[in-house]
Amino acid sequence: MLDKVKVLLHEVSSYSIKNSEDQEQLRIRYLGKKGIMNDLFAAFKEVPNDQKKAVGQALNQLKQAIQDKLDQAKFGLSESTQQFSGLDLSRPLNEDQFGSRHPLSLVRNEIVDIFKRIGFKISKGPEIEDDWHNFTALNLPEEHPARDMQDTFFIQQNPDVLLRTHTSSVQVRFMQNNKPPIRILSPGRVFRNEAISYRSHCIFHQIEGLYIDTDVSFSDLKQTLIYFAKEMFGDKAEIRLRPSYFPFTEPSAEVDVYWGLNSESDYKITKGTGWLEIMGCGMVDPNVLKNCGIDADIYTGFAFGMGIERIAMLKYQIKDLRLFFENDVRFLDQFKSAF
Ligand code: DAH
Repeated sequence: MLDKVKVLLHEVSSYSIKNSEDQEQLRIRYLGKKGIMNDLFAAFKEVPNDQKKAVGQALNQLKQAIQDKLDQAKFGLSESTQQFSGLDLSRPLNEDQFGSRHPLSLVRNEIVDIFKRIGFKISKGPEIEDDWHNFTALNLPEEHPARDMQDTFFIQQNPDVLLRTHTSSVQVRFMQNNKPPIRILSPGRVFRNEAISYRSHCIFHQIEGLYIDTDVSFSDLKQTLIYFAKEMFGDKAEIRLRPSYFPFTEPSAEVDVYWGLNSESDYKITKGTGWLEIMGCGMVDPNVLKNCGIDADIYTGFAFGMGIERIAMLKYQIKDLRLFFENDVRFLDQFKSAF
C-alpha cells in the first residue's frame, strides 16, 4: 500500500492544473465520494498494525499534497504566475492586526483612574531598592520577624541592595521628599522568591495608596475603600475589613471583597467563605511618619496595598495567575479596550 501511495503522490505533484476543469478533475479523482482517498482510507483498516503508522503518515501526506495543489490553483491564477512567484497575488489582504492591552495594564489603568477621580496622583519608585526604603523605614528593623514573610531577592549577595518586595517603599521615598497633604498611588512590579503556581509568582504587580493630612481617620480609609470597591466591581460590591498586622500601619486590616458561593470552584477559591482578600491597609504607623520626616503629632494618614493580579483574576474570573505571564495571544486577544 505504501508503494501505491508513493506513486499517487508523484502523480499529484506532477499534475498540472491549467484551468478550472483540470482542478475539478483532480478534486473528483482524489477527494470525490468515490475518489481515491476514500478507497485508500477504507483499505487502511486492513493494514497490519505494525505498518499502520507509516501508511497513515503517507496517506496524510498525500491528502495534504492534493489540498495544496488545489489551493494553489484557486482564484484562476495562470500556472505560469504560480510557478514564477509561488504567491497568490489575488488573495485579499489580511486585515490589520491590532494588539490589545495586557489585562494587567487594563486593570492597573482602571484602578488608577478610580483613585485619580478623588485626587490621588501617581508616584513611582525604583524596582531595585535599598534595605532602608523597603524595610527599616517601614518599621521593619533588622531581625524583625515580619521580614521573613517576604522572601527577598538580594542583589549580588549585598544584603543592602534588593529587589523591592512591595510598593510600600515608594511611600517612604515620597514622604521624604514632599510635605503633606499627600495623596499618591504607586503602581509597579514587585519581586519575591516564591514558587510559581496557579496562585503565586516571583514577579507580580501591586498598587500602593497613601493619604496623609491633618485629621485623617480610619473612617476616611473605610469610605475610600468602599468607594473603590463599588467603582471597580459594581454598585452591589461588598467589602469587609478584618483586623490584621502590618509593621507599617496601626491599626491594620485586610480587605475582603465578596466573590460569591455559586459553584464548586467558588468554594475552592474562597476556601468556603465566599470572601476573597484583595488588599492590606491601615493607619500609617507614627514611627513611619517620623522616619520619613513628617510630624506625627500634626499629621495622620492611611495606606493600602493591593495585588493587581489578584484584582484582575477576580474581575475577569481567571483561575490561574500564570496566564498573565505566558503571553499566549489566544489569552491576550480576549482583552480589548479603548483604555
Ligand atoms: N506591603 C504589603 C504587602 O506587600 C501590603 C500593604 C499592607 C500595604 C498594608 C500597605 C498597607 O500600604 O497599609 O503585603
